[in-house]
Amino acid sequence: MSKEKILSILRQNPEDFTSGEAISKELGISRAAVSKSVNVLRQDGYEIEAITRRGYRLIAGPDLLTKGEIIPWLRVEHIAAKLECFESIDSTNNYLKRNAMQTPSGTAVIANEQTGGRGRLGRSFQSPPDSGIYMSVLVRPNLPPVQALNLTAFVAVAVCEGIEAATGLRPEIKWTNDIVLNRRKICGILTEMSIEGESGALQHIITGIGINVNQRETDFPEDIREIAGSIAMAAGKPISRGRLAAEILNALDRMYTAWLNGGEDYLERYRSRCLTVGKQVRLIRADGSTQPAEAIAVADDFGLVVRHPDGREETVTSGEVSVRGLWGYVD
Ligand code: BTN
Repeated sequence: MSKEKILSILRQNPEDFTSGEAISKELGISRAAVSKSVNVLRQDGYEIEAITRRGYRLIAGPDLLTKGEIIPWLRVEHIAAKLECFESIDSTNNYLKRNAMQTPSGTAVIANEQTGGRGRLGRSFQSPPDSGIYMSVLVRPNLPPVQALNLTAFVAVAVCEGIEAATGLRPEIKWTNDIVLNRRKICGILTEMSIEGESGALQHIITGIGINVNQRETDFPEDIREIAGSIAMAAGKPISRGRLAAEILNALDRMYTAWLNGGEDYLERYRSRCLTVGKQVRLIRADGSTQPAEAIAVADDFGLVVRHPDGREETVTSGEVSVRGLWGYVD
């Protein structure tokens, strides 16, 4: 679309004007078409200065999660080779599930709002408009399902690295896969896998990532206000969601290639960000029973090694338990 290309041209020259003639030549469209697209961009909320005989200059842009805001920052080979952006959708995971058959591996879907966002264990995931990033990626690795079980941990590392690249903040991981800044959960990950019943072959994996970006404390419902946070709360300033979404996709792209090849160093990267180790925790079993324990290490398969009060050690997996701090969300 020419408005996205015009935006990209104006971004390359932020300090100076770019003439209408240069844009029309570069895109092979008429000067009138350039002027029309600039007006559409203005209606979208972009502030574009125009001076006769000098051209156009981008002054400021709105915080949109559109292709025009994401693509200029993308450096990817596989992940997000196909990118779809929605203003509002029920759930990006549901969208990819519905369309999985005709969706190429690596497709990424991003929404500004979800009306039926889903979290782990059948919970709902609050996905209000204009403040978060709700994204899902579908991949079709040629692997047995059991070998794909650690993908979410790799995704958690990649999301942390993408946030760090865009903001300079260093997120941590609360085992298993909650992303935390300043002791508050800023991101959750929901990975869903489809397996063919007959052969047991892995058909596709959909990983959904929900990030609180620009919410203020009072934007969160009271029941989660103590544990939920946003990147802007930690940064002390608003964050551009387009650039952030792109940096996360860039990190997911690097991660996916590494993951297909074993990706051993991601285990160390996970360990170095895992804030659960060394803490007194409460293990919450599937039947609702709880036990105190000390988290002592992340095992080679990303399980959590814990020591019980009687000294017995056990490695627990995310399928068996969830973990909370003894007093609060992380400790
Ligand atoms: C959790 O913390 O329980 C996981 C939350 C996962 C939310 C993301 S938002 C994008 C994708 N679509 C959904 O409906 N859920 C995931």
